[in-house]
Amino acid sequence: MSTPSRLPDGSTLELGTATASYQVEGATGEDGRGPSIWDTFTSRPGTVTDASDGTTACDSYHRWAEDADLVAGLGVQWYRFSIAWPRVLPEGRGRVETRGLDYYDRLVDGLLERGVKPTATLYHWDLPQPLEDAGGWLERGTAEAFADYAEVVHERLGDRVGLWATHNEPWCSAYLGYAAGVHAPGRREGGAAHRAAHHLVLGHALAAERMRAAGARDVGIVLNLAPVWPERPEAADVADGVDAIRNRVWLDPLVDGAYDDGLLRVAPELADPELVRDGDLALAQGSADWIGINYYTPVRPDVPDPARAEGQEHPEGGAYPGVAPFELAVREPRTDIGWEIDASGLEELLVETHRRTSLPLLVMENGAACADDRVEDGRVDDQDRIGYLRDHLGATDAARAAGADVRAYLVWTLLDNFEWAYGYTKTFGLVHIDPADQTRTPKASYDWLAGVARERAEP
Ligand code: FCB
Repeated sequence: MSTPSRLPDGSTLELGTATASYQVEGATGEDGRGPSIWDTFTSRPGTVTDASDGTTACDSYHRWAEDADLVAGLGVQWYRFSIAWPRVLPEGRGRVETRGLDYYDRLVDGLLERGVKPTATLYHWDLPQPLEDAGGWLERGTAEAFADYAEVVHERLGDRVGLWATHNEPWCSAYLGYAAGVHAPGRREGGAAHRAAHHLVLGHALAAERMRAAGARDVGIVLNLAPVWPERPEAADVADGVDAIRNRVWLDPLVDGAYDDGLLRVAPELADPELVRDGDLALAQGSADWIGINYYTPVRPDVPDPARAEGQEHPEGGAYPGVAPFELAVREPRTDIGWEIDASGLEELLVETHRRTSLPLLVMENGAACADDRVEDGRVDDQDRIGYLRDHLGATDAARAAGADVRAYLVWTLLDNFEWAYGYTKTFGLVHIDPADQTRTPKASYDWLAGVARERAEP
């Protein structure tokens, strides 16, 4: 039996906010949760700026009701959260831990009771460690296990969660995780990371097939596609390689059921019939009902700077295996995490992705790390964040006006949380968290978003 469509219809731009399991839940050892690659990675010295981890994070595993109240208080339509695979299947496959599912059941019901629509992401990077021990995303078996996991979760929540995302930012999983090594599992395998990319595409397609067979509608994937702007004409070639790995490796199979020739030149691994088996790409084609876009900053490839010492490359430079050495130029102004601010990149990306895919688009993450996140007299006056969000919401409206089918805009993120390799040193939240006692203090940006939601709700 098919559930009714819960995809926003596009008549207005719906609003929301997003989080991810490992970044907010904490309680990593509770209720039978198994270890994930992020538990392992963070336990290794030198992987996280402040040597922190997600053991406590925002303690949302226990404080979910308070967090759901905060979302409801914003008056937005959507809350995007992710499900921790190792809570549901502690060994990655096989035995189901119902206490893990019970948690998401409570959260989903709690959101619905408060008038907030839940959208769940199945994989926001917390792979069960036993699957990594068996080779992780370099192995086809991980894609197959992912489809089984998707089916288990859908069976429990599919009657109430209508809008499903398989992966969040598979570029990060494949290339930051298996090439640059700056995200879990922290491996530097060069071109083998393209194998991970294919298995992520395949995992998405297998999961979508399985969930649709069980009645799901609206199964999408969330991509951190990027506008790729060569810094000068000589960088055109490397920019094409960057575009191939950042954008086309995901969109081509989903839209065309193929990997294009330019991509195969930088990623010859994807031409291996043992890896890309008959039927894989046909299954991927048409497997997304919508595309989620996460946008923070444009990408500006540049020719290498000969003055730069070897080993001093940009931390993401290693994340494009097969592309000739290049630099990433970053212009001003920048956010506190060093990412260039340019809202026109979001407008361009939405218009271009609409042209490329004709699929409904949802901005599933957009936000800023800001230095003005201090609590003074019980308030956080984060005007920089408000400016960033206002400009990017405006860019989203402009893309709609230009004909792009954009249906939602979600702010990253509800709470200051564990920002991966930056630990707790970079904050993106609408709500400040005091790490000492977990006190939640809504920032000025929270009030701003609530005001926007109110204005837009008026007839
Ligand atoms: C994205 C991630 C999200 C968060 C933001 C800042 O790449 O999906 O979890 O870390 O960046």
